[in-house]
Amino acid sequence: MTRLADHAARLRALTELDSTLLVEAAAGTGKTALMAGRLTMLLARGAEPRSIAAITFTELAASALGARVHRYVDELLAGRVPEPLQPALPNGLTDAQRQALSAAADKLDELTATTIHAFCQTIICSYAVEADIDPGARILDATHAEAAFDAVFEQWFRRRLNGPARADDPIAALSQYDPHHVVGTLQALARFRLEHRDAHTPPADLSGRPDIDLVDAVADFRR
Ligand SMILES: Nc1ncnc2c1ncn2[C@@H]1O[C@H](COP(=O)(O)OP(=O)(O)OP(=O)(O)O)[C@@H](O)[C@H]1O
Ligand SMILES: [Mg+2]
Repeated sequence: MTRLADHAARLRALTELDSTLLVEAAAGTGKTALMAGRLTMLLARGAEPRSIAAITFTELAASALGARVHRYVDELLAGRVPEPLQPALPNGLTDAQRQALSAAADKLDELTATTIHAFCQTIICSYAVEADIDPGARILDATHAEAAFDAVFEQWFRRRLNGPARADDPIAALSQYDPHHVVGTLQALARFRLEHRDAHTPPADLSGRPDIDLVDAVADFRR
């Protein structure tokens, strides 16, 4: 087994469990392994899995981190010390650590390894009433969101065109005026409103009085 040049720093990250540390390292040098190792060491110290929140930036990183903690716990309980944990456990687990880890292994699913947005979503959903949101609300990825938007738009449009339309209904008027492009026009408008939630029509210019001008012109003409 080779002793890495940054052995002391790795040991610190695996054992100084009550400090806040910033680890910066190049790609592929073992950051995820170190973080998974730190989480495993927390569990071996008796931390409850549900009291740990491991937050990552991407979903891929979150699932890789969670999987790695599971693997390290399994390996350690099987009597092997994964290489990234060697600095902290050169002689394997103590009895107390083994006991704590095997208790944690039964409820490892309670450990949170997730992205920032999924973590916030979980918190917000548990306060759905206070946050005034649907408790079943969930985050859609871009493709699903796009499909959902199109489906909702189509349902809404069908509903609007079904049944008797009021004479002044702008959508019925637009359908009559430009039947070939009405769907595209409304879709473009809906997307515009999606991207600019507070967009509204520009206020009417009431500085002049074209109505009075018109009435005067008609009166003139009549005279
Ligand atoms: N201390 C270590 N000793 C030996 N191998 C290690 C050690 N730490 C990590 N590795 C191995 O190196 C590889 C890369 O590790 P890891 O994925 O943790 O790196 P990373 O810094 O998170 O990479 P990335 O920048 O891609 O996220 C893995 O195969 C891992 O098992
Ligand atoms: Mg990584």
